[in-house]
Amino acid sequence: MVSRKKSARRPARAAARRNRKTKPRRAARSLPAIPRPALPVTIPRPSMSIVRQPNHFPGAPDANHGPHHGQLNTPLHPTATSGSSFAPRGAEGRGNLANSAYPLRPVGPLPEADKPGRRRDGQKREVCALVLAAGLGKRMHSRSSKLLHQVAGRPMVRHVIEATRQAGVARAVVIIGSQAEEVRRAIGDGDKRLAFAFQKEQRGTGHAVLCAERHLRGYEGDVLILNGDLPALRPRTLRAFMEFHRASEAPLSLMTTVLEDPRGYGRVIRNYAGDLSRIVEETDATREERETQEINCGIYLVDAAHLCKPLKRATSNNAQGEIYLTDLIEILRKDGRTVAAYRHEEPEEVLGVNDRRELAAAARALYRRKARDLMTAGVSFIDPDRTYVDAQVKVGRDTIIEPGAMLLGDTIIGEDVRIGAGSRVLDSSIGDGTEILPYCVIGEARIGRACRIGPFAHLRPGTSLDEEARIGNFVETKKTHLGKGSKANHLTYLGDAEIGRGANIGAGTITCNYDGVSKHRTIIEDEVFIGSDTQLVAPVRLKRGAFIAAGSTITRDVPAHSLALSRARQTVKENWARRFGPQAKGKGSDTRPAKRRP
Ligand code: UD1
Ligand code: CA
Repeated sequence: MVSRKKSARRPARAAARRNRKTKPRRAARSLPAIPRPALPVTIPRPSMSIVRQPNHFPGAPDANHGPHHGQLNTPLHPTATSGSSFAPRGAEGRGNLANSAYPLRPVGPLPEADKPGRRRDGQKREVCALVLAAGLGKRMHSRSSKLLHQVAGRPMVRHVIEATRQAGVARAVVIIGSQAEEVRRAIGDGDKRLAFAFQKEQRGTGHAVLCAERHLRGYEGDVLILNGDLPALRPRTLRAFMEFHRASEAPLSLMTTVLEDPRGYGRVIRNYAGDLSRIVEETDATREERETQEINCGIYLVDAAHLCKPLKRATSNNAQGEIYLTDLIEILRKDGRTVAAYRHEEPEEVLGVNDRRELAAAARALYRRKARDLMTAGVSFIDPDRTYVDAQVKVGRDTIIEPGAMLLGDTIIGEDVRIGAGSRVLDSSIGDGTEILPYCVIGEARIGRACRIGPFAHLRPGTSLDEEARIGNFVETKKTHLGKGSKANHLTYLGDAEIGRGANIGAGTITCNYDGVSKHRTIIEDEVFIGSDTQLVAPVRLKRGAFIAAGSTITRDVPAHSLALSRARQTVKENWARRFGPQAKGKGSDTRPAKRRP
């Protein structure tokens, strides 16, 4: 709470400071200068006024100042000495970018937003998102695109889109390429707020952005560019970043973070004054540059007017032979533009997922966050680090979740529920006061109030239980409805069954619902009593209050309040065991003929 307030307030202070200096707005911007309202002026802290470099944003939160405060192990590179990998102006390589036509849906302008632009208050520039989701993700060693891998119940890329939405960015263009159809489907292609651009060949992040150029034609706001592999990114971080960018007035802002082990990520290279000069990818970095611990998170805000045109000057003259989006920073710096860096303090949230280990770490982070949020809202966890609750699951207060429980997908849990150790609940709802004992598997089921399930129960899709129903150990249900207070406490299979209220299903009852060709229904009316070890051969109906004797095989309907009994009559042969049972040993039992045994 506190930190959110802080980050929202800081840029306001920053704007106030800047107002006093009244810098003219950059002419290159496509939007006319927007008069800023006078803001309360605060006295700047002395450290803030020391650096006055072009890409330094004096009012930035302290955390975003360069490493010149000495807290980072960052070699400083003056921009002038850094080798350039850019083609001269004019040599734009435009011809290489011919494959941006999207074959699945005609390429159009930006998608319609529910709410039109965000310029109402005269200060906010419109922001649209550009999500890079065309890469395969080789380091995952997977058949499917990295972005389709599930993290806490959603494909990775959907977390990113969800975060942009919750941060108030209404429109997004997603760049797809590898497994385009699957990625598009996973994201939800019916959504009007989304548009898709196609990158036929994966020639780098810069190339991917250029594939969306047509979508940005005529657009004058800011573009929030995000790698699609950031499942743990929080909306509030994006909001703070957008605030920062607006206040910085730089045409490009970049999110960075500091890692103890920065291996694999692009490093942020600053000059002697601590200002950002460029990003160097690990594969292109010198040993000295690799020691830099500040990394690029793959989250950028760029004024649309400073995006595609300068980016076309980036070349693929690098170790990976790709067109890097990160080269845009050096290009803009060389053009004399400012580039602002927003340093995020919680690396866990802004780290790209590249391999399975990082995938597990991201999932862990999301599960931990979800548990924390639920605990704040009144849910108890016996051991929050050993519990797995997907992002969209809802849990009511005073519910207790035991270790090893997995609450997945679109599950909704009521209040005062107990979820036993090792139980897995997917896309199901559980009513108030219900107890799920350990080791139950529940999928696409609806469980009413005050029920008791398990231990070791398997509730399959289409199971629906009214209040106070009981399902005990080793009971499996499928497409079955149990009315109020009905019980199936032991060793039972109920498939395609409609069961009324107050019925008692004895241990070992089996609905024989499948005849090898089709499925048939079993109807058990209110207050039916079924004795143990009964087979109900469907289709069959047991009418109200019927009583089935234990061990019966029921093949015909049973009228109301009658007894049905279909087992063989018991025969007793007195003293038979004395002669032929184990007691008969020593009297030639080894040689007795088998046919004499009944
Ligand atoms: C990128 C950054 C690196 C940063 C890191 C943060 C570049 C050149 N490097 O590296 O500085 O530290 O992210 O995680 O940008 N993609 C496409 N088309 C392509 C290539 C990639 O759409 O041709 C997409 C991928 O699907 C992915 C994102 O871009 O969602 C980033 O690609 P990835 O290969 O993960 O980049 P990194 O090497 O991690
Ligand atoms: Ca990555």
